[in-house]
Amino acid sequence: MTVRAWTEGDLPEIGRIEAECFKDPWCVAMWRGTFTRSDFTGFVLEENGALVGFAAATVLFEDAELLRIAVYKNERGKGHGGKLLDTLLENAKARGAEKMFLEVRESNATARGLYESRGFIATGVRKKYYADGEDAVAMVKTL
Ligand SMILES: CC(C)(COP(=O)(O)OP(=O)(O)OC[C@H]1O[C@@H](n2cnc3c(N)ncnc32)[C@H](O)[C@@H]1OP(=O)(O)O)[C@@H](O)C(=O)NCCC(=O)NCCS
Repeated sequence: MTVRAWTEGDLPEIGRIEAECFKDPWCVAMWRGTFTRSDFTGFVLEENGALVGFAAATVLFEDAELLRIAVYKNERGKGHGGKLLDTLLENAKARGAEKMFLEVRESNATARGLYESRGFIATGVRKKYYADGEDAVAMVKTL
């Protein structure tokens, strides 16, 4: 298992992971825009030379925001998501962030389990946060 900073060459595969993992996938053009922004940071995880997951966050002064974390379905439950999240947390702390925030679909028990396993706590509910009307749970972790 190798985690490394993402590059523009990873975008087509990130787009495929997005398409498999999310109801509301970001298109490759949206991700490409992040490469010109210094507040964005992203990592990919490779297994036997193949990209199987990625994670992205922003860091603005003392606040970091988890944007995305995803692993191909057939690669889940092997610790990849945890490794990607640990990398984002370490990177955000190294860049001076004091807290990491995130929103997660209320129904996404797997992701909520991942976040809780890393010490995130729920701070509230954002009603109808998603385009399909689902509520989001807001969570935060002190770094
Ligand atoms: C969330 C996701 C990234 C987790 O990836 P993963 O590689 O399966 O995660 P891991 O194997 O590292 O598991 C890490 C922790 O998550 C939790 N977890 C994993 N699967 C779980 C499940 N089915 N139910 C509850 N918690 C679960 C556990 O706490 C686990 O810790 P443990 O290994 O000590 O038990 C993956 O399920 C995914 O890509 N989901 C679709 C995209 C998504 O919803 N992303 C989050 C919103 S941006």
